[in-house]
Amino acid sequence: MQRNQWKTASEQLLKHWLSCGISHLPTHAPQSNSTATQWLTENAACVFQTSPAMDSAESALETNADPIALATLPDTRPLATASPETAPSVRERGPQVQPVAIAALNASPSQTARKSNASIASPPAESLGTPGTWHSKTLDVSSRALQLHELNEQVKACRKCEDIVCRRQQTVFGVGATQARVVMFGEAPGADEDRVGEPFVGAAGQLLDKILAASGLHRPDVYILNALKCRPPNNRTPTELEIENCRPFFESQLEAIQPEYIVCWGAVAVRAVLRSTESVGRLRGKFHAFRGAKVMVTYHPAYLLRNPDAKRLTWDDMKMLIKEMGMQIPTKST
Ligand code: URA
Repeated sequence: MQRNQWKTASEQLLKHWLSCGISHLPTHAPQSNSTATQWLTENAACVFQTSPAMDSAESALETNADPIALATLPDTRPLATASPETAPSVRERGPQVQPVAIAALNASPSQTARKSNASIASPPAESLGTPGTWHSKTLDVSSRALQLHELNEQVKACRKCEDIVCRRQQTVFGVGATQARVVMFGEAPGADEDRVGEPFVGAAGQLLDKILAASGLHRPDVYILNALKCRPPNNRTPTELEIENCRPFFESQLEAIQPEYIVCWGAVAVRAVLRSTESVGRLRGKFHAFRGAKVMVTYHPAYLLRNPDAKRLTWDDMKMLIKEMGMQIPTKST
């Protein structure tokens, strides 16, 4: 490397560290030029891929190659939008008292990853079984909002996933009614969500909105969150470690809201909520349990966009959910 290249690279690196909020070098920080080169090489993926030029190239590529780009949204008529007037509104539970302690958020990643691998091999009794109970008392509206706000602050400050944290534009916590009967549980933010800061705002989110509306469940009535709070680079599948790093966050979110129903959209949501590696195909069509909630499993909207034939199956799943909730599918407005 030429002297001036080295200087530019070092400046870029320093800028990057600062933008990531890193003010101290790791303990294994370089002691000599050769180890510095080695250290930079090992960390180059993280350092140099976050330059603005790389970022825009990446999103441009994604936009062009995106199989679920808006313009190519397939016909979603089976899930056509219902009129809001005919849709029963989602019941909200009455306020109760007692704040609840937020789950410990500082477990070391290696500890949690070990735990997760063990439990994936053998799901705990509460998963896939009959509904159990929530670990804490039900919160009133303002305590829920406060607790979720505090959790969100902790999510924003989290830097556990090294591969992700330096590339994220922002964290994506969750959105919706804190007293929702039903929670929509997804995988992780994509490029649109990373930019906007809200889950399911891209093409998959638009299909989700249609599915919800057709079912009589409108976006503001439900709560929407993902297993991961940050976008994995290039939208890759979240790792076990990343799911475990986020577990205290999403479990605390669910515990604060205490929904009656959780819809797991896709296999990653299933891994996170039910700790199961079973396929969506095997788990759908019946209710499972997470603490006090009944869990329904169905295909991820992004999968449905690529495999429109599966929409029928998801529609069957939604009908099962709506019936279980004691609601009715709104009649189609033509
Ligand atoms: N897919 C998800 O699982 N979540 C989002 O927020 C967006 C796309």
